[in-house]
Amino acid sequence: MADSTYYLETFGCQMNVLDSQLVEGQLVQRGMRRVDSFRDADVILFNTCSVRQHAEDKVLSRLGQLKNLKRRRPETIVGVIGCMAEREREGVFIKAPHVDLLCGPGELNRLPALIDEVRDRHEQVVALAGSLSRRTEVLQRALEYDSLEALDLSRAPAAGASELQSYIRVQRGCDKFCTYCVVPFTRGPERSRPAAHIVQEARLLAQRGCREVTLLGQTVNSYVSQEDGRPVQFAQLLERVHDVEGIDRVRFVTSFPADWDDDIFRVMRDCPKICTYLHIPAQSGADRILKSMRRTYSVADYLRLMDTARRYLPDVSLAGDFIVGFCGETDADFAATIELVRRVQYQNIFVFKYSPRPGTAADRNLDDDVPADVKLHRNHELLAVQHQIGLAQKQALVGRTVEVLVEGYSKLARRLQESEQDRGAEVTNRPSRQLVGRTPGDQITVFNGDESLIGALARVRITSASALTLFGEVLSVISPHRAPPTAPPVGSTPLRVLGAQPSGAS
Ligand code: 5AD
Ligand code: SF4
Repeated sequence: MADSTYYLETFGCQMNVLDSQLVEGQLVQRGMRRVDSFRDADVILFNTCSVRQHAEDKVLSRLGQLKNLKRRRPETIVGVIGCMAEREREGVFIKAPHVDLLCGPGELNRLPALIDEVRDRHEQVVALAGSLSRRTEVLQRALEYDSLEALDLSRAPAAGASELQSYIRVQRGCDKFCTYCVVPFTRGPERSRPAAHIVQEARLLAQRGCREVTLLGQTVNSYVSQEDGRPVQFAQLLERVHDVEGIDRVRFVTSFPADWDDDIFRVMRDCPKICTYLHIPAQSGADRILKSMRRTYSVADYLRLMDTARRYLPDVSLAGDFIVGFCGETDADFAATIELVRRVQYQNIFVFKYSPRPGTAADRNLDDDVPADVKLHRNHELLAVQHQIGLAQKQALVGRTVEVLVEGYSKLARRLQESEQDRGAEVTNRPSRQLVGRTPGDQITVFNGDESLIGALARVRITSASALTLFGEVLSVISPHRAPPTAPPVGSTPLRVLGAQPSGAS
């Protein structure tokens, strides 16, 4: 495996981004080098998403583009990993016979061995959750779980990835079985990771220069693990991660609206490093749709939760997901969703057109009866309503001072820099550039500043706003960056370990 190259493309959610980083860490540790074009790769991997048909279609089309390459260079290994491998199983081989390897999200710790197997045996190999399904023996599941734990804990730095902000998994899988959703099938049952492991990971990341961690789970607020025979709930986990030295910000996604524990609000209020940002999908503003989605809360429950959030955290930034055009959704149901969005005043929402997923209860039992053009129209309409709300919310911040973690150059500045470099211009001595960062409420903030600000926490005064972006000027630095401001070149030894072990470098 040493000296060979890999190309990895990630589709879908933050959980997939994290999985890809962990997989990359493993491959780099084994001497493989990342390349940015699949044409230069010995191993081509797609980490896939199954949540909507569109996501799967994109992967199939990318796989189609590899057919010729595979004919010319049959020794190139093509792997489909993640949720689509799990959902489609051997069906992927029928649609794309040139795929060599399938690996589900619960088996990623085995990926390096699978690559070796394809190389040695020249045949298709498969690692899916047969061994991790709900019917499996408890012991086998525990063994699998341990090796997945090892994957998370290994945290070999991914090539080229900035570690200023990192994800930490707190939970795997989901037990909610919302009727439209494929996740419980692809990622298996809900299991919370030990709190001590999560804290250990946060410490390790902080030593590498990470300042912001985002705790990931499908329903993070239902996190509960055992420690010395006693339960550790999500609120306690939050407090523990908050107390990790070097971590300046803690975020978490995604929360489930039912079974909410107000202790979480109390911890958020009392622990200043926990970002006042809540992503709590509502999915619909109509009770009968929520019921047929099996969401287990009513619109009134949801609104009460949002009100409680605002009572504890007056500055909280709220975000939510909505599915439009779910089975049986009438104009009146959709109007109720618009009403809910107006009432909650989100910072940001994500809107999805309902996409039937084979194997789910909705697909088996309900009619996908909202025509595609109606779904599209509702999608646009809901986003238009939110556009106005987002704009008003951001404009209300003009004149105020916010705390921003400076992430890097803004997209526009990056594009300009790249085109200047393409033209051979000298760009190293530019005193000031457009930088971008985020507030604790996850508002994207753009401002002029020096490169040395990257990685710093800064105070920024907001001078204007659009629906998606705040614009401002830096007033002062709260604390300077601790990590190298720019990521190391792709494939090189990643970030040095800071803090405890001065490595000779400055
Ligand atoms: N169709 C459309 N949207 C879906 N989501 C989940 N499953 C589906 C589906 N079958 C959306 C939900 C979820 C988000 C991640 O994706 O809104 O919160
Ligand atoms: Fe899917 Fe519902 Fe679980 Fe979210 S809570 S992952 S929508 S089943």
